[in-house]
Amino acid sequence: MGFILLEERECCMEIAWMAVERGHHGRGIGRRLIEEAAGYACRRGKRVLSVKTYGGGDYEPYQKTLSFYKSTGFKLYEIIDNYTGFQGQPAAVLIKPLDCAVLQ
Ligand SMILES: CC(C)(COP(=O)(O)OP(=O)(O)OC[C@H]1O[C@@H](n2cnc3c(N)ncnc32)[C@H](O)[C@@H]1OP(=O)(O)O)[C@@H](O)C(=O)NCCC(=O)NCCS
Repeated sequence: MGFILLEERECCMEIAWMAVERGHHGRGIGRRLIEEAAGYACRRGKRVLSVKTYGGGDYEPYQKTLSFYKSTGFKLYEIIDNYTGFQGQPAAVLIKPLDCAVLQ
């Protein structure tokens, strides 16, 4: 029903991609995937989850994605204009500090 793809970086654990099947949206599966990713990150010695998503603010599906990340504890770190990874589109960089004493 859903998946999350993680990339281990020196600073943090980055969410490279995640999605939940359309018919199962809004049932807590995305939140559960974030919780699993947070526990995994802690076990790998990371203290921060990060993610980049479309940051233009003018595309409704990605406003929903941004709302999802914010409601699961991510904060906006910065907007990168002309992000090469998104073919020159803007990217929003979000980070979520992890309380690994609780999560591990
Ligand atoms: C973003 C996505 C993963 C969310 O998954 P989900 O299983 O529907 O999310 P959840 O049901 O766990 O929702 C968790 C919280 O996010 C928020 N949220 C979820 N969908 C939202 C929406 N469409 N609009 C606003 N807030 C939303 C809710 O506030 C919810 O909190 P609540 O449980 O207190 O109501 C899913 O919509 C999706 O796969 N979207 C398409 C792909 C995508 O955008 N992937 C991320 C970029 S890589």
